[in-house]
Amino acid sequence: YGTQSINELGHLTIGGVDTVELGKQYGTPLFVYDLALFRERARGFVDTFKKEGVKAQVAYASKAFSSVAIYQAAAQEGLSVDVVSGGELYTALKAGFPSAKIHFHGNNKSIEEIEQAFDSKIGCIVIDNFYEIELLKEISAKRKQKMDVLFRVTPGVEAHTHDFITTGQADSKFGFDLSNGQADEAFRLLFEDEYLQLKGMHCHIGSQIFETEAFSLAAKKVVDKMAEWQQSTGFKATVLNLGGGFGIRYTAEDTPLAPAVYVDDMIKAVKKEAEQFGIELPEVWIEPGRSLVGDAGTTLYTVGSSKVVPDVRNYIAIDGGMSDNIRPALYEAKYEGALANKMNAPLEETYTVAGKLCESGDKIIEDLQLPKAEVGDLLATFCTGAYGYSMASNYNRIARPAVVFVEDGKHQLVVKRETLEDLVKLDLPLTLGEG
Ligand code: LLP
Repeated sequence: YGTQSINELGHLTIGGVDTVELGKQYGTPLFVYDLALFRERARGFVDTFKKEGVKAQVAYASKAFSSVAIYQAAAQEGLSVDVVSGGELYTALKAGFPSAKIHFHGNNKSIEEIEQAFDSKIGCIVIDNFYEIELLKEISAKRKQKMDVLFRVTPGVEAHTHDFITTGQADSKFGFDLSNGQADEAFRLLFEDEYLQLKGMHCHIGSQIFETEAFSLAAKKVVDKMAEWQQSTGFKATVLNLGGGFGIRYTAEDTPLAPAVYVDDMIKAVKKEAEQFGIELPEVWIEPGRSLVGDAGTTLYTVGSSKVVPDVRNYIAIDGGMSDNIRPALYEAKYEGALANKMNAPLEETYTVAGKLCESGDKIIEDLQLPKAEVGDLLATFCTGAYGYSMASNYNRIARPAVVFVEDGKHQLVVKRETLEDLVKLDLPLTLGEG
């Protein structure tokens, strides 16, 4: 992946930095992000739109990994960002991210979050439901403040890994249904509002998607709707946001396409549809999360105890687990791994890598081929950059790992490791029952 290599000591290097040294300096578990790979992925999306001459915004879906430094890296690459909570918005603003390039999502934004969005004059709010239309009308009118808005529709295209289906009415908690009149009603309520400036529509059809047809079909359905509304009202949508969901390679089973391929096919579909209906080509916005940070991230763990279940399996345990990577337990997600300090040693054993949390299901990788593992070895799991740290928890009161960025032989701590003191800083002593 990316800038990964093996040095003369047989150690895994990332961005020209020896991971064994990183483990020593920052401790484990440790998230290491290959910043060059993040940039390469970002440019893959941005440059393709440029090459095609299509106006676009590539918004990093920051739920995949939200921290001050990653927002700053996104800004360096000219990306926009998508936030889904007051917390992500606050972090982006703390990072100095240009507020005009922040898009706010969510199916139950609170009044406080909406006020926060207006206060900081973000780029746009993506409206999810009728209650939110009401709230936004009220808040924008009270403040006499304009806000660009898109609204989210469910186009009846549902994508799963290696597969997509089209359903008449998508059963989803998100957005307005395109097929049953809900989207038309939302449009009627928003079009020509004094303060809410309707720019267009948004859809997001799923995550870890490998086929471009799913995006093309969704694009077609939404553009058709835009054309219909333009014919009946004269409203010209200027933005079509097709969401995120571009798949990445976690294991050899995954067959992702290059960012350019997804973008090219999307553009083709939008152009074709727009031409057919004689409407102007809207700006195309996308929201990649996983495909920007996923394979840029590697987690380093230290190997500790082991257990042999005779004739069944050999366990090795690491110093983290589902507290820093919930995805195997939650989605049966698969990962690849290696011993970062023994990259050239022959693969002699098959191990199940267990976490240290008190759950039998806390396994990070099953049946992983490794050199003979010993206490103190450094285990690297790959492609952990998306939905790893961001879904981390303090279950079992385990402190969250540190995060380091590497690039061009340099490394920098960007999120400190949580301390024991951090773990109790919100706790208050009991006063009830004191007599
Ligand atoms: N836009 C919207 C509206 C979304 O809901 C999502 C993801 C994205 C963009 C970014 O999708 P991506 O490019 O990262 O696939 N925790 C799960 C993934 C949940 C995705 C939720 N929405 C996981 O670990 O696989």
